[in-house]
Amino acid sequence: MKKIGVLFGMENTFPGALVEKINGKNLDGIAAEFVEIGAIRLDRPPAWSVIVDRISHDIPFYRAFLKHAVLHGTTVINNPFWWSADDKFFNYSLAAKLGVAAPPTVILPHKHYPAGTTERSMRNLQFPLDWDAVFAYIGFPSFLKPVNGGGWRDVYHVHSREEFFQAYDQSRDLCMMLQKAVNFTEYFRCYVVGQEKVRIMYYDPRRPHAERYVQNPTPAPKKLLEKVEQDALKLCRALGYDLNTVEFAVEDGIPYAIDFMNPAPDADLHSVGKENFEWIVETVADLAVQKAKTAKAKVPEFHWSAYLGAASQTPAKVAKPAAAKPAAKKAKKAGKAIASTGSPVIQR
Ligand SMILES: Nc1ncnc2c1ncn2[C@@H]1O[C@H](COP(=O)(O)OP(=O)(O)OP(=O)(O)O)[C@@H](O)[C@H]1O
Ligand SMILES: [Mg+2]
Repeated sequence: MKKIGVLFGMENTFPGALVEKINGKNLDGIAAEFVEIGAIRLDRPPAWSVIVDRISHDIPFYRAFLKHAVLHGTTVINNPFWWSADDKFFNYSLAAKLGVAAPPTVILPHKHYPAGTTERSMRNLQFPLDWDAVFAYIGFPSFLKPVNGGGWRDVYHVHSREEFFQAYDQSRDLCMMLQKAVNFTEYFRCYVVGQEKVRIMYYDPRRPHAERYVQNPTPAPKKLLEKVEQDALKLCRALGYDLNTVEFAVEDGIPYAIDFMNPAPDADLHSVGKENFEWIVETVADLAVQKAKTAKAKVPEFHWSAYLGAASQTPAKVAKPAAAKPAAKKAKKAGKAIASTGSPVIQR
């Protein structure tokens, strides 16, 4: 009997529906269940052919268990090695290389020293940081957000230097990115499953949380939807994710990739709505079954570099950076920087 396990956290609707959907297919030799584990021994291969992982980003014990499971031949959706290695700045960088539009973005040194480090650990960092150059490149409004974020935590919409520094001063020891805000007319969140199937959901991030998935949208132009679908696939294939959501904000007809590191995407009936929920349950069930049926020759490798050859010939579409302001240029020349004020932390 090949077993498909579901590993999950606080969510209530998706895990049970997935198990039910798979078992409802009454397939010979395949059954789904919730994973149950205790202390993990080196010498005991896990019982599951496939595990759908919804929670290991929050629980290091689960992440370590899943890596061990992969070594013993379990297929994990999504691959825990790549998920551990990935971050959002790399994602944007890859998007730009692949010819998928991404807003101008920088990563910034931590506002507070990470635990266990001191000023002496920071001697490779430019000081003071050239804030004028940063602002000239990104402009305002912009978004300050973590390089490893999720659930809109520590995301700040900033409209001026003052607002930026207020937000940056609150960012603790997180590694933050500053990104040009896309002034969007449409916003899409796309489920991408098995690097093949795409469901484009109309999403309005300006609405209250519970109403963001637009249930009866006016359809966007076909050409735009095709571009969104192709870009979503391109990103997930290059990243190797079998389950992901890719978000695009559309300005002047160009879909900019905003957030595509969601390997355990929201699939709750109450937020995505009945139709999206039914689609994601059915599609992930089919994927898990197909993975369970496919004999595994060896542990998969991830080769995003293979996607770069042709794409590197294509100039990456990156939103136009904000124009450098004369004052910024002058300050740069004089070697000045505007330091953030406040707490006893890195002053760049
Ligand atoms: N460059 C941008 N232009 C316009 N809007 C943005 C931009 N960056 C972020 N946002 C807005 O902020 C929201 C949260 O940002 P983002 O998706 O990057 O963070 P997150 O914490 O990963 O969110 P989640 O995982 O819940 O989707 C986005 O849904 C979008 O509405
Ligand atoms: Mg997001």
